[in-house]
Amino acid sequence: MSGYVREAARNPFVLKISMLAALGGLLFGYDTGVISGALLYIKKDLDAGSLAQSWIVAGLLAGAVAGALAGGRLADWISRRWTLLISGVIYVVAAIASGLAQTSGQLVAARVVLGLAVGAASAVVPLYIAEHTPPKIRGGTVSYNQLMITIGILVAYLVNFALRNVADGWRWMLALGAVPGVVLVLSMLVVPYSPRWLMQRGRREEARGVLARTRRADEVDAELDGIETVVRQERRRGFRELFGTRLRPLMIIGIGLAVVQQAVGVNTVVYFSPTILTYTGLKANDAIAQAVTVGITNVVFTVVAIVLLDRIGRRTLLIVGTVGLTIGLALLATFFGLGWQGEAPWVALVALLLYIASFAVGLGPVFWLMISEIFPQTLRGRAMAVCTLFNWAANFVVSYYFLQLIDAIGRAWTFWLYAGLAVAGIVFFVVRVPETRGRSLEQIEHELGGSGASGRPAGAVQFHS
Ligand code: BGC
Repeated sequence: MSGYVREAARNPFVLKISMLAALGGLLFGYDTGVISGALLYIKKDLDAGSLAQSWIVAGLLAGAVAGALAGGRLADWISRRWTLLISGVIYVVAAIASGLAQTSGQLVAARVVLGLAVGAASAVVPLYIAEHTPPKIRGGTVSYNQLMITIGILVAYLVNFALRNVADGWRWMLALGAVPGVVLVLSMLVVPYSPRWLMQRGRREEARGVLARTRRADEVDAELDGIETVVRQERRRGFRELFGTRLRPLMIIGIGLAVVQQAVGVNTVVYFSPTILTYTGLKANDAIAQAVTVGITNVVFTVVAIVLLDRIGRRTLLIVGTVGLTIGLALLATFFGLGWQGEAPWVALVALLLYIASFAVGLGPVFWLMISEIFPQTLRGRAMAVCTLFNWAANFVVSYYFLQLIDAIGRAWTFWLYAGLAVAGIVFFVVRVPETRGRSLEQIEHELGGSGASGRPAGAVQFHS
């Protein structure tokens, strides 16, 4: 049995909390994944022109930008748990409203509100899980969030497929998202507050109670003392401090990861796989079926990442994974550049699978994981919110302009462009991104210089071992 699985099995309560919180990831994946299929029917039923269609897709991304920011603030203020609960409620209401929309305008409005919930949950789920989880299994466990995102995308593809011939099928596709929303709300009523948030609020005894359920008895006091020390060292700080000299290097790492994660074009693959496959000469139905293999590969390789992140480390997987996806992009670009559609259409599918598998072991989980690890305690919620905001904004730009980019520079150059951005990303990772495996959040804070006590710039320390 692998190290991660063995260690994780010793912490059933942490696993339960993490899986319940990761339902937020399921909502994220489902709602971003469901729209590409649903849109085919919506445009007929609601008579949506191309501008309305773009906004039906991108409205969620725009809402998520605002939701991420609000979620980070709320998480520090009313707790991670209540923020997730409120996101779940908004989510249920907005999913049902999307299914009932009578005009494109109403649908766009519902998608923007849905985006608020998706954005908030996307910033808070990794934060909440990381603050509960012991260092040895934190990489894999925080990545349940990413696993749920990929499962949500896959379920969305399958629901789209299953409901394709049902009357008003698109309404069901959108409204069904309310189901995991209800489960998220109920789950948040039974999980505990994060012990680190409790300490930040001076609620030491409650924090001890939570840690007593997730740690060995002899570990509880040492961990409480460690958290108390960093909380005491940190003054209460505002948003502005995030960009002060001391934290700037950490923000550059977080925002850099956020932007690169989207700039390599992952969501052009997630949202447009069927479209890309039809470029290879496949009929629409076959393309949709092959796109499901992309969804399955994404899930399977995320499981591989969960097992490896705490053994091999985040940095190695990040770099190796991004090299792999660059090869996938170069292969796609070559495929279109040399016009292999006729002789070897299967090469495009191989390239897409290589691409998504490599993303799933590296950039996919590592971005969300790292931003939950590198920031100091009292700013963690807000810092993650800013990185998450950049991720959604970059997602918006890349997804919104993908088809226009293809029209302007052609398929081959579009994929070469993503490959070039991926290479820039690799250089950035090698130079800037530290290894955080196996260290407690307080150790990371100390070593990266995020702690209020040291006063040295965070970039002064780089640990790669
Ligand atoms: C990204 C999403 C993407 C998904 C694909 C996530 O980590 O943030 O934008 O759709 O991975 O698996």
